[in-house]
Amino acid sequence: MQWAKTLQSAPYNLGNSGLSACPLRHLPVRIEDLELSGASFYGWPLLQTALAAHLKVPENCLVQSTGTSLANHLAMAAVLKPGDDVLIEEPAYELLVTTAGYFRVNIRRFQRPAALGFSIDWESFEEQLTPRTKLVVLTNLHNPSSARLSETDLRRAADLAGRYGARLLVDEVYYDAAFDCTPHTSFGLARNLIVTGSLTKVYGLSGIRCGWILAAPDLAERIWRLNDLFGVIPAHAAERLSALVLQHFDRVAARARGILNPNREVLNRFLESRPDLESTPLVAGTVTFPRLRSGRVEELCDRLRRDYETTVVPGRFFERPEHLRIGIGRDLEETAEGLRRLGRALDDLSA
Ligand SMILES: Cc1ncc(COP(=O)(O)O)c(C=O)c1O
Repeated sequence: MQWAKTLQSAPYNLGNSGLSACPLRHLPVRIEDLELSGASFYGWPLLQTALAAHLKVPENCLVQSTGTSLANHLAMAAVLKPGDDVLIEEPAYELLVTTAGYFRVNIRRFQRPAALGFSIDWESFEEQLTPRTKLVVLTNLHNPSSARLSETDLRRAADLAGRYGARLLVDEVYYDAAFDCTPHTSFGLARNLIVTGSLTKVYGLSGIRCGWILAAPDLAERIWRLNDLFGVIPAHAAERLSALVLQHFDRVAARARGILNPNREVLNRFLESRPDLESTPLVAGTVTFPRLRSGRVEELCDRLRRDYETTVVPGRFFERPEHLRIGIGRDLEETAEGLRRLGRALDDLSA
């Protein structure tokens, strides 16, 4: 995260997993729509209702949170105690592992191998479940690969976790990018599911931090109370803006589609043209995670930044040092030029 905050920025940024920031002028905001404080104790009621309708879930299953980051933290805090086992996918978004570590649990891993298209290796999944497992954690779409799990996979994971009395936490921060930016959630597939998500990444709305946790009503209630320890109340102006976004959701969804669809085509043409990268075409999502067939990824990334003013994320941040993560959330011109520059750096490396 520190790398992402301090070293990722570049004129051609292929490191970011989210969309470029959606500007305020994209929304029909009037000053009368904003207010500094409001009656937001356990969720500003207007936003609670709008968000539940947007996600098509009952209001008593929805806890608002400051982005998916806090959502994951709260979900873990609500179900874990020191000494529990937590089973987390590998490769993983680093903060899922370090957040679990913060709760002093035993971290076990199941595999999502590149050779299986980053789907679940069920043998490792079942092998790593124990009677002490309280939570299984995965991302859908997967970060770093954007692989999408089917409903059958998710039901199977929830069922296996449930046999040990464990819950399944599904981080859906990228899920909308699987369906052409249509709101969607797997919550409801199984009773032991906890889902986290936000409008931050897929819609370029990181700044308003509109996030959520979906959980069974009793757990949702517990999480609301737990949030009193962390945030107490949210920034009301951000809640107002979030409600406004939901009111004009078509605009932000169309913007996201307009960026992601052409970029995906450019990316796939690039991947197809590069025998030095082992990859599959990107069908959904904002990132892809190819393997460099020969040479050192760190050297490639250094050269790319130094000589070509372009960044990608080195795979070591996702426990796979021979891979690199390429994001396609910037505008078409920046993405296409960034990929051209990546191609030149790859040529230099093989020369
Ligand atoms: C899997 C995953 N979850 C959560 C987050 C953080 O989301 P937010 O910005 O909504 O806190 C990220 C950001 O990169 C992520 O990759």
